[in-house]
Amino acid sequence: AVAYVNGRYGPIAEAAVSIEDRGFQFADSLYEVVAVMNGRFLDWDKHLWRLKRGLAALFIEGLPSDAALAAIARRLVSLSRYSDGLLYIQVSRGAAKRDHGFPADIPATLVMTVRRFNFRQRLPQLETGVSAISLPDQRWARCDIKTTGLLPAVLAKQEARAANAFEALFEKDGIVTEGSSTNLYMVAADGRIVTHPLSASILPGIARDTLLGLAQDAQMQVEERPFTLEEARAAPELFLTSTTAPILPIVQLDGAAVGGGAPGPVTRRLGALAWAEIQ
Ligand code: PDD
Repeated sequence: AVAYVNGRYGPIAEAAVSIEDRGFQFADSLYEVVAVMNGRFLDWDKHLWRLKRGLAALFIEGLPSDAALAAIARRLVSLSRYSDGLLYIQVSRGAAKRDHGFPADIPATLVMTVRRFNFRQRLPQLETGVSAISLPDQRWARCDIKTTGLLPAVLAKQEARAANAFEALFEKDGIVTEGSSTNLYMVAADGRIVTHPLSASILPGIARDTLLGLAQDAQMQVEERPFTLEEARAAPELFLTSTTAPILPIVQLDGAAVGGGAPGPVTRRLGALAWAEIQ
């Protein structure tokens, strides 16, 4: 696995940033996870768009140009020699003497890594489905910004693992918004695919964008609206998407079977469409 840190390429084990980096001290930083498949980036432009939107929201400046970022990412993949993997990008406001307010004129810290990742490991999960638990959403009010301030997500994922579940679904004011690292969908009784609309309550997932596009192209009915945990419990099908899991059926929620307790027809159809797209 290889890393890039502010101009230097090398093994991950030797890469380092300052202990005064604001990403480390304040989570004053953003990240992206991009799929590398057959040596190519999936949806590079969309990830870059989301990163730049987040940087603008946090007033972090000084990132290299789009072309320079793409060149660094491509070089890292070629150094890694992995044809399938995950590119991780992190940008922090930079390193400076600890002070909550922005320091003047410091360069941003740019880190990228490439690690091997086998997307096919998801295929058995597409067949069997995964289980999920629900938890109160304890995140901040700007879940649309992909910050590295992930503590509520970390704690929720750990609670899911302790319960032998794959994912924790966040509930806020009765509404189930998304998973700790995934977007969430239910298939309603009438067959519609329902997912929370884009808002400050969820991350605008790139896999979400792709999935909704595939569903529309296949003339499947999509409705973007909030839905309750009670609706989710009663739904015939539930599923998740993320960069690391293009589509994953949820077959158990809080210990109770979802639908028939096996991936349903709408999820299976979407799974086939999503995988056909990325192979
Ligand atoms: N997580 N919602 C949350 C809270 C996420 O953290 C993620 C991604 C998603 C899905 O977004 P996308 O389709 O762009 O991957 C939704 C990444 C993969 C992670 O934290 O590792």
